[in-house]
Amino acid sequence: MALNFNSDIHYTPYVDESDLDPAIKLIESGLSEPYSIYTYRYFVQQWPELCLLARNEHEKCVGVIICKLEPHPARRRHSSLLRGYIGMVAVDHAYRKRGIGSTLVLNAIDIMKRMGADEVILETETKNKGALSLYEAVGFIREKCLCRYYMDGSDAFRLKMWIGKPEPLVTL
Ligand SMILES: CC(C)(COP(=O)(O)OP(=O)(O)OC[C@H]1O[C@@H](n2cnc3c(N)ncnc32)[C@H](O)[C@@H]1OP(=O)(O)O)[C@@H](O)C(=O)NCCC(=O)NCCS
Repeated sequence: MALNFNSDIHYTPYVDESDLDPAIKLIESGLSEPYSIYTYRYFVQQWPELCLLARNEHEKCVGVIICKLEPHPARRRHSSLLRGYIGMVAVDHAYRKRGIGSTLVLNAIDIMKRMGADEVILETETKNKGALSLYEAVGFIREKCLCRYYMDGSDAFRLKMWIGKPEPLVTL
């Protein structure tokens, strides 16, 4: 039987800038890509409900996910498809492999669904086996490979999850 390692962890939405500092520290220690404070503020100020923090029993932030939800960029003129985007996810090293990362991802997707998302996408390094296993376990599929996507020259996979029905193929 699986143990519930998560019972001492609770999840809260972003409230104000006091949440940003611990979130940035976690992301900087987990991800190689550097982001400016303006990038973080771009996300959390427009979509605070899509920034979730995992906290331990002492209220210490031990996990974070930062997302956004916008009209699909290629189809803005033709339809009202909404695309969710998972920008960053990180869990404190000491708290990994307890289900916190997948709980953050599933909670964020659930909120995006309730906000009307039709699909959710993200990018992750092709060599990030842990993240790829997590995302594929919750239902993402590999849509494309983005060559030299990151600033350090590494490649990324674009992963996608359809929330409604996949778009029909166009037949000529
Ligand atoms: C990726 C990350 C967020 C996972 O967080 P986590 O809380 O450890 O993930 P979970 O415990 O929810 O793991 C869920 C599943 O993901 C997979 N997984 C997670 N970490 C893994 C690892 N190191 N190796 C292989 N599979 C892994 C497993 O399938 C796992 O299920 P299991 O425990 O039943 O085997 C965390 O390792 C992290 O912060 N990494 C650095 C930042 C990062 O890479 N972010 C994602 C890129 S956008």
